[in-house]
Amino acid sequence: MSPFAHITGWGMSVPEKVLTNEDLAKMVDTTDQWIRDRTGIRERHIASPEQSTATLAVEAAQQALEVANLKPSELDLVIVSTSSPEHIFPPTACLVQDQLGAVKAGAFDLLAACTGFIYAVNIASQAIRSGSAKNILVIGAETLSRFTNWQDRNTCILFGDGAGAFVLQASETPGGVLSTVLRSDGSGADLLSLPAGGSFMPASHETVNNDQHFIHMNGREVFRFATRVMSQATREVVEAANLKLDDVNLIIPHQANLRIIDSAARSLEIPLERFLVNVERYGNTSTASIPIATCEAFQQGRLKPGDNVVFVGFGAGLTWGAALLQWSGPFLPEKPIYPFSYRLWVRIRSFLNRLVRSLEGLIWRSRYPGI
Ligand code: COA
Repeated sequence: MSPFAHITGWGMSVPEKVLTNEDLAKMVDTTDQWIRDRTGIRERHIASPEQSTATLAVEAAQQALEVANLKPSELDLVIVSTSSPEHIFPPTACLVQDQLGAVKAGAFDLLAACTGFIYAVNIASQAIRSGSAKNILVIGAETLSRFTNWQDRNTCILFGDGAGAFVLQASETPGGVLSTVLRSDGSGADLLSLPAGGSFMPASHETVNNDQHFIHMNGREVFRFATRVMSQATREVVEAANLKLDDVNLIIPHQANLRIIDSAARSLEIPLERFLVNVERYGNTSTASIPIATCEAFQQGRLKPGDNVVFVGFGAGLTWGAALLQWSGPFLPEKPIYPFSYRLWVRIRSFLNRLVRSLEGLIWRSRYPGI
């Protein structure tokens, strides 16, 4: 029998700096009341200049590894889902892999916008089910504040920075990820985009002058799309697991807008109390929103072993999807195996790797001067 993919570790990291609606009202023509009425958001966290997608990702990942009590060197794969990577390449996942000391892991980035975390959980669970991996780290991390036009009131009120991470591990015990639904519709690609900086429209003076390195969005159309797909994907994923909506204990939706979550709840005829909602404190952290909300659900005692939980999200692409899992909690070995001291060794190892690479380069150039 193929192994089951359980979520055994979870962690989150958000920047300390908080930007409230009142702060935004001093920057653009808006009000706290308008933002709260239309989105449910009160405040969001914004990365400091020293922070980046990778630093937030590493912090969330270290927490997740501690909860799972797993050594980074036991990871087989690191997947970073992000729409705000450190660079187009190298993958942010490789920077995270190095900073964690996940010395035996493959690492890659995944881009499916705000739905990315659900896509990443699907890939991780399939890799575990197929037997090709045992321990996988999945991270959703964003610093969308770096791509936000702080003069555009249509978009700057929505987004926040943060990261969340899961450890998925193989086990013969039934449970974990039971079903997933992944969907896309590229005919709506123009509704939410970051137009320039890719191969289609490389960076130029013109793209900078035209604000094309910022998020562009048709809010009304995205809203209409989101309200349609949230309930649809939830029904599909529950059906795929041979369960009924009544069997679902908690729904953790992508935190974009309280009105979208509310509309999904009404369409599913499920009370809003069965949804985890924290959009008021974080805004839309894109692919990080579901793992961050999961960490808070656990802290609030809303996740117990055996509970059926649905993750459901939507985003640019257009993409949408859902995952249904039976919550299990950590497989705790007898003694702690992920001590803090590990982190110092990881930094030394990375430094030594760079040093050795430079020395090898010097020797190589002295031997083969023309090359
Ligand atoms: N403050 C005050 N007024 C604002 C404003 C703001 N921050 N942003 C827009 N407005 C104005 C508009 O200019 C418009 O004025 P007009 O009628 O004079 O043209 C009016 O408010 C209504 O705009 P509209 O776009 O219809 O508002 P809305 O009710 O659709 O709410 C969003 C706007 C963006 C909050 C809403 O469309 C939304 O949440 N969409 C989904 C976005 C999303 O989730 N994106 C991420 C997906 S992962």
